[in-house]
Amino acid sequence: MSIMPHLAEPKPFQEKLLRWYREIARPLPWRYTKDPYAIWVSEVMLQQTRVDTVLSYFPRFLKAFPDVQRLASASEEQVLKAWEGLGYYGRARNLHKAAKILCDTNDPTVPDSEEALRSLPGIGDYIVAAVLSFAYRKPFAVLDGNVKRVLARLLAIDWAVNNAKAKPFFQQMAQDLLPAVASDLHNQAMMELGALVCTPRHPKCEGCPVSRFCLSRQNGWVDRFPVREKRRLVPIRRIVIAILVQKGGGVLLTRRPSEGLLGGLWEFPNTELDASMSFSEGIQQLCMRFSPVSDSFTRQSIGTVRHAYTHFKVLAQAFRVDIDAAPDAISETETCRWLNPGMLEDYPLSKITHKVLRLMGMKYR
Ligand code: ADE
Repeated sequence: MSIMPHLAEPKPFQEKLLRWYREIARPLPWRYTKDPYAIWVSEVMLQQTRVDTVLSYFPRFLKAFPDVQRLASASEEQVLKAWEGLGYYGRARNLHKAAKILCDTNDPTVPDSEEALRSLPGIGDYIVAAVLSFAYRKPFAVLDGNVKRVLARLLAIDWAVNNAKAKPFFQQMAQDLLPAVASDLHNQAMMELGALVCTPRHPKCEGCPVSRFCLSRQNGWVDRFPVREKRRLVPIRRIVIAILVQKGGGVLLTRRPSEGLLGGLWEFPNTELDASMSFSEGIQQLCMRFSPVSDSFTRQSIGTVRHAYTHFKVLAQAFRVDIDAAPDAISETETCRWLNPGMLEDYPLSKITHKVLRLMGMKYR
């Protein structure tokens, strides 16, 4: 059973797509070679780098290392130099290692079997399919981000394109759409459609050669696809909090600026740490702000507090800082007050401040 009923007979779709591709295809250099080595190099570069950037690196790399043997006999430093600026340098190191492995086997040709390709470092599903399709014209569907987006819109697939579990599903869809003849060109055409027409934002549906096959277009859902899973990891900000306590028992509270996050709420003096700073360095620095008393306090860690906001999480370390100085050593202002602990909760406090009060056993209601 086909998993995409409305394209159960994909021939009209395939023909329309191919005709369009033959007319508009960009003249990219890797499309004019059948050299498996050159195709391999190009696809490794294209996997994580934009076409525009690869256009300048690809010919230079091939000039420096025109075939597997010459890549294998180069030093790693030479290979990395040719890759300099492309990023993801593991790609270059793996390419180099794979070339050496091929030369060690006395057959320096790029393999034409899935199994042999897969055994080489740095070669996964994408490179296997790209090399077998573009270099050897074998019927492997090539699935990259562009192709997934095209499929998601075409078939209104609500699997998230960035969910690894959905990959076999997309791969199967791509395979089901692959024609028996000119499958290499079909793969190129799917990528070209994603790159030029079915773009992430503002897709150009009016100029799409296959819009009449597109479920999203037919139903006005183009903006709803592809579905992406939200990144669940949010940054963690580390802060230190100082509970400055005077001899008489008053504690210092400060008011946040009116604008911005938690605008106008009151809290204990605190500061965000940069990545290289420890909590104890942070509290030292924070206490320096109260320089009149900086040499007359003792401090004691009272524990950590966590809190999650929408876009970040806070990990706070709270310190009690006892001050020996006279009560007026730190003067009060509009945004800075010494308060009797019993009065704290008369003020609008941030959630983190409440958590710190609980930690200190200073919560009265
Ligand atoms: N991105 C990845 N492979 C590509 C190719 N062969 N042509 C254009 N863009 C690509």
